[in-house]
Amino acid sequence: MTGVLPEADTISFARGIPSPDMFPVALLAESARRAVERDGRVALNYGPPGGYGPLREWLGDRHGVAPGRVLVLPGSLIGLNLVVEHLFRPGGRAIVEAPTYDRMLHSLSAIGADVVTVDRGGDGLDLDRLHGLATGEPRPKLLYLLPTFHNPTGTCLTIDERHDLVDLALEHELLVFEDDAYGLLRVDGDALPNVADLLRARGGDDLAVFSSSFSKSVAPGLRVGYLVVPESLGGPIEALATRTYVSPPLLPQAQLHDFLAAGNLDPHLEFLRTLLRPRRDTLLDVLAARMPPEATWTRPDGGYFLWLELPATIDAVELERRARDVGVRFVPGGGFFHGDRGRNTARLAFSYPSVDQVRVGAERLTALVREELDR
Ligand SMILES: Cc1ncc(COP(=O)(O)O)c(C=O)c1O
Repeated sequence: MTGVLPEADTISFARGIPSPDMFPVALLAESARRAVERDGRVALNYGPPGGYGPLREWLGDRHGVAPGRVLVLPGSLIGLNLVVEHLFRPGGRAIVEAPTYDRMLHSLSAIGADVVTVDRGGDGLDLDRLHGLATGEPRPKLLYLLPTFHNPTGTCLTIDERHDLVDLALEHELLVFEDDAYGLLRVDGDALPNVADLLRARGGDDLAVFSSSFSKSVAPGLRVGYLVVPESLGGPIEALATRTYVSPPLLPQAQLHDFLAAGNLDPHLEFLRTLLRPRRDTLLDVLAARMPPEATWTRPDGGYFLWLELPATIDAVELERRARDVGVRFVPGGGFFHGDRGRNTARLAFSYPSVDQVRVGAERLTALVREELDR
């Protein structure tokens, strides 16, 4: 892979990035022009650390919170890092899922946080272990969760698990960081309530941090993500943001605000579903037809990812090396675990390749798995 985009002759299930046909190019061009014409005097200047006022209002309305509780950031990864920096610079314990988003693991380990894990497997989240960790010493400062279209597995926590998590957070006053980068990309089934919203509805406002992004649902090049934070966190995070980058770029925020305020989001999400659904279905069909029975995989109702558990004898790092030789890329699953686990797992992103590429790539991959088993 050169830079971010896969080489032309490679079928990539590796990066969780949109394909170029997903971008609402014409609408964003209009929004850019209107944003500059209408509000260029504000949007072309430095701005407040919390971001472009009208977008904060739009998001505040959507989440039922005051605009001051919304911090619009140059991508949601920055939000993760700012929260980690604020909470863990002096040390402390973080609970994460196993597996979980690898960049959050990097961020926690770079700052020296004491990371402990709770399994997120085929049976959902290990709530018994979570209870133990929440009551144990040292007291955790944060639970980092991806309830909806989890990166890397593509799974969702059930409504019962969400309610149990809220009970647990309230009982142990545990701060929950919900990372929802993919929640809007539902292809099947009904939307589930966010854990942060459920927490807030039960009086746990101080315990809920919600993070989301327009990278997957509109365009990552805009670099617009946001946090909804408890009142107590807003000031320190804004201070860190100012120290780090003075001001977020307001122009893409104003452009995105114009796009959203014009009512473009829902039709665009509907369009994305028409691209994501056949890619996911094709991947599932090929796996069902050609994977050996020892392998298992998730069946995501949305998002970008599917998670493979290969037969126990297969090393995914080795498999990935061989896959490159046949022009296929994916991410071995070990990097999504804290510690040495997941050797026979892999994450497949179905967002980037076309339906035909998904089919050919999955056929090559399943053939390799069969070969490995026969060796
Ligand atoms: C779970 C998760 N959180 C956060 C991000 C960061 O996205 P961005 O900084 O583009 O908003 C990503 C991107 O891949 C992600 O998968």
